[in-house]
Amino acid sequence: MSPAVATAPALVRLGTVDSTQQVAFRLAAGGAPDRTVVVAEHQTQGRGRRGHRWEDEPGASLLCSILVRSPLPLAERPRLGFAAALAVADALGAVAALDARLRWPNDVLVAGRKIAGILLEARGDAVVVGVGINVGQRSFPADLAGHATSIALAGACAVDREAVLAALLQAFDGWRGRLEREGFAALREAWLARADTIGRAVRIDGLDGVAVGLDGDGALLVQVGGTMHRVTAGALEDRGA
Ligand code: BTN
Repeated sequence: MSPAVATAPALVRLGTVDSTQQVAFRLAAGGAPDRTVVVAEHQTQGRGRRGHRWEDEPGASLLCSILVRSPLPLAERPRLGFAAALAVADALGAVAALDARLRWPNDVLVAGRKIAGILLEARGDAVVVGVGINVGQRSFPADLAGHATSIALAGACAVDREAVLAALLQAFDGWRGRLEREGFAALREAWLARADTIGRAVRIDGLDGVAVGLDGDGALLVQVGGTMHRVTAGALEDRGA
């Protein structure tokens, strides 16, 4: 038997791809190591959460997927989404001095508008953490215009996507490491400190209530009348403060 050859994690830079998620899973199937990163200029089949499409203006976004081969038990791997959301918020603060807030489970907002989305997908032992950050967009299509923003629109002076990527990867390595070593409690506190969701009236999958907290495993606690509901998945609609 030939000795195992350790492959170094790579940063794979591409032009137009179907989806960086797809590319990352193809690399994973070929044995790519933990922390392989795929970055593209444009996606023709960008994927969002819950089966939505993620459209991008070529060259305007940071589109990346991080292959994670995590020692976490399967049931705890979705918490990597919180690590990614915190990493995006840290990167936006470090590179563009933006005060990013987090909407459960892992949208990143600036001034109440979505600036970045995170998609976690798993196949076998490979988790791919997809991050799309709006960087240089000066406008958005009509259906997104009231809800989306970019680093450029949020008022930061010209910001280089490379700098955002470097800051993102450094912060993700840090949060992921803490999650794997210390457990979710360390991330939970940090997430709550940046949360946009808590205290708001929300609707989630037909449930109308007030988001009052985050459970020890990442579930959102929603109070409906006198009853507390633990919500583990869903699309959150904000219904005001
Ligand atoms: C969301 O719906 O908010 C999640 C959007 C995630 C988009 C990113 S862009 C890079 C990676 N590749 C994809 O196809 N999707 C993710």
